[in-house]
Amino acid sequence: MSFRTTTAVDYVEDVAPGRGALPPRAWYASSDAISHSLNGTWRFRLSPTADAEDDSFAEPGHEAAGWAEVTVPGHWVLQGHGSPAYTNHLYPFPVDPPHVPTGNPTGDHLRHFDLPAGWPAGGEAVVRFDGVESCARVWLNGTELGEFKGSRLPHEFAVGHLLKPAGNVLAVRVHQWSSGSYLEDQDQWWLPGIFRDVTLLHRPADSVRDFFVHASYDHVSGEGTLRVDSDVAGRVTVPELDIDVATGEPVTVAVEPWTAETPRLYDGVLATGGERVPLRVGFRTVALEDGLIKVNGTPVLFRGVNRHEWHPERGRALDPETMREDVLLMKRHNLNAVRTSHYPPHPAFLDLCDEYGLWVVDECDLETHGFVEQGWRDNPVDDDRWTPALLDRAARMVERDKNHPSVIIWSLGNEAGTGRGLTAMAEWIHGRDGARLVHYEGDIGCRDTDVYSRMYAFHDEVERIGRGLDGGTRKRRELPFILCEYGHAMGNGPGGLADYQRLFEAHDRLQGGFVWEWIDHGIKHPRLGFAYGGDFGEELHDGNFVCDGLVFPDRRPSPGLIEYKKVVEPVRIEGDGPAGTVRVTNAHDFADLSTLAFEWSYQVDGETVGTGPLSVPPLMPGESADVKLPEPPEDRRGRGETRWTVRAVLARDTGWAERGHEVAWAQLPVTERVLPTPGAALRPTVDAGLVRLGPAAFDARTGALRSIGGIDVTAPRLDVWRAPTDNDNGAPWQSDVRYGLLWRKLGLHRTQHRLDGVEAGDEALTVRTRVAPAASDLALRTVYRWTADGTRVRLTVSVTPEGDWKVPLPRLGIRFGLPSADRVTWFGGGPGEAYPDTGSASRVGRWHSRVDDLQTPYVRPQENGARADVRWAELGGLRVEGDPEFWFTARRWTSEQLDAADHLTDLIPGGTVWVNLDHGQMGIGSQSCGPGVLPRYRLRARPATFSFVFSETG
Ligand code: GAL
Repeated sequence: MSFRTTTAVDYVEDVAPGRGALPPRAWYASSDAISHSLNGTWRFRLSPTADAEDDSFAEPGHEAAGWAEVTVPGHWVLQGHGSPAYTNHLYPFPVDPPHVPTGNPTGDHLRHFDLPAGWPAGGEAVVRFDGVESCARVWLNGTELGEFKGSRLPHEFAVGHLLKPAGNVLAVRVHQWSSGSYLEDQDQWWLPGIFRDVTLLHRPADSVRDFFVHASYDHVSGEGTLRVDSDVAGRVTVPELDIDVATGEPVTVAVEPWTAETPRLYDGVLATGGERVPLRVGFRTVALEDGLIKVNGTPVLFRGVNRHEWHPERGRALDPETMREDVLLMKRHNLNAVRTSHYPPHPAFLDLCDEYGLWVVDECDLETHGFVEQGWRDNPVDDDRWTPALLDRAARMVERDKNHPSVIIWSLGNEAGTGRGLTAMAEWIHGRDGARLVHYEGDIGCRDTDVYSRMYAFHDEVERIGRGLDGGTRKRRELPFILCEYGHAMGNGPGGLADYQRLFEAHDRLQGGFVWEWIDHGIKHPRLGFAYGGDFGEELHDGNFVCDGLVFPDRRPSPGLIEYKKVVEPVRIEGDGPAGTVRVTNAHDFADLSTLAFEWSYQVDGETVGTGPLSVPPLMPGESADVKLPEPPEDRRGRGETRWTVRAVLARDTGWAERGHEVAWAQLPVTERVLPTPGAALRPTVDAGLVRLGPAAFDARTGALRSIGGIDVTAPRLDVWRAPTDNDNGAPWQSDVRYGLLWRKLGLHRTQHRLDGVEAGDEALTVRTRVAPAASDLALRTVYRWTADGTRVRLTVSVTPEGDWKVPLPRLGIRFGLPSADRVTWFGGGPGEAYPDTGSASRVGRWHSRVDDLQTPYVRPQENGARADVRWAELGGLRVEGDPEFWFTARRWTSEQLDAADHLTDLIPGGTVWVNLDHGQMGIGSQSCGPGVLPRYRLRARPATFSFVFSETG
């Protein structure tokens, strides 16, 4: 006979969302009702199972003897109790919904508190939890309040009748796993805990409960209509607009509209008998019209990013400064939109989006991706028993966030397959809030949604969609298109952003996208620098797939963000350098250019010799103007390479950046570079086993360079290997060729260099080699030809592929070693790294860096740090000039060491600085979760000749 006992923890596996919580409502901070934060140090006890301990700890007077302490908000696994675990989509437990493992880490939390001075005697009060992962049961002063799931959603309980002036005990039992975990299979760390604020709110008699601000804008009349519905009647005032109306009553007045570019907010107050609530009203109307997403009558172009909440030490427990930092960084990098992947963020983040101006796609806390492993069988979103939980989640998001002008689209969730539950959510949301659109990428026919959304669609498909050649359901064909995820920013990359942007700007239907993703979720680690999946001994994990952001875990911008900023800049500057004309186009959707100042500068060989203001009219969106540049400053240095640089900068301080902050720029070449021409060629001489040629000495037997002047070098030789990037390696599910794997299979990391001949001729030393990996008949015949005048030595490398090379090369160039080098100066692209399809932000100039600062600290080490279009570089006493320009890389370890490293702390500087001078580099692409390198950025193996002139810097 078998039986199942009912235990006190059955709620953990119950598909119901919870019991005892108050209905969801708008999140706001009252002006006058008192509140009391319960954040801080809590007593804490961890148990291995949900029922290891009884609930007597919730009784007043419980000693909590021997309990630890944790900080709330926080995750206990980041505070020394257990470990974090990372999986992309796999459930880290057997899939048998709604059951969870017996091993279910359970954290009992206790907080003792007195009511603060001024807390009114009696009256209502609620305790609010803004986020607890994944399931909590709550008691106050020994009385059970209820339990809830929905980790990134608020839950409130009425507690007024239980509060005492002093000696209150709030007890919260938190289970890591629950039925809710099946709905929260987002690609991120599993991090249990009370990770958002806990607040006690006094609720005076006749106070505001819930309210809904409806503030629309009529772009034809220029008027806004405000109506605030409130379940407790009161008055609404907006002094600046002379508004003073009853709740529920509409009022129409002339206003300035809210947009992400012009985030005009009006301060108001909602006053009921018992409370005043501040309002920040932004008037704007979102509509689907002519197959486009329009705000205030104008189609918008999303320059967006997916944002998970992340802090390298505190996980998803974000403090206000970190949220603000995210918003400021986004604004400073020309981003205008955020998808809150994949759950509603801390509510304060949305206040910041309202204030600074970002379009928000607010996404529900829902993902059931792991069911893909079983062909979506048993998927909760297609099982009516779960629908109440789904609707509860939808309601908690919409009710909490409905008063934010920045939120223009509700998203049902992410990667949850399809099913009736999603349809029910969409219907409920449409019914509750008809003034916003509904998004869900998984709804491929757009049955329930208002926008056709995809992730990682390749460029050619996006173009077809833009042209309306994509087919699909009739409804879908009439909808606008967005890429809710694209440009996978894992490691070095993403490549191909500019190519997407060109498509977005060419086709109205393509309304932009959201790069995946904002931040690397690396966890600060004493030994590893930043840890990623697998570093905590997880049984199942997805490695560094969790580090795929535009900013590093410490929020330092990665080259990907710099590139994205340039690609989406809202002002286009083009022109004709020799003619001295520039065409400026305002690519904003709403803002004119009156907030920007323009300036020109003029460079000779990368050095600025003149600068001045440029007068550009305050163009309206979409308008262009042709502007004449001044006469170029007199070229004080004789013949040289010259160019204009034109920049658009903030004319005044804004809330998000200071005056002078650069928004857009372009360079217009005027005169071309003069290529290095060595003087009369010297004849090589042989002396004591060395061939001497000008300043250079070579090993007479091997032809290997030994020194240039007084500088010893490790001889240059052909190098085609780079430490594969995450995008080179691609993702396991990619059906296209993954070059990183192919290169390794072919043995490009272990090429052998066969010496075929050393000839000291009349004018040159020529060294013939054949570079090839074992076991293959593919080879690169490589000839090094050295010539010199008195002070300079020129190396010309000729490469001829042999065999049927179907594979592009990682790189093609030479590598040599210098005994020491620290400071580097170069004339070429900079200041940051660039690769063929990530180089938009690389500008030609004279740059300085230390070798160490040339490195880009990708959390998992990989190829990085190349500077593009380098004319010459100086380091370690050596000057190298390229003909043609080259890619320059210098590091204190070899590519092989870089390749072998798993974490930055594995990279130990050696005694040699390794310098790569590349004639070609393979593009980057974004195959770690998207298209590979577009054909035009692939480095094909074909005959090539390139040269470098070396001299001592003296
Ligand atoms: C998407 C998913 C994201 C993330 C991304 C890859 O499929 O929606 O959550 O996993 O791929 O990094």
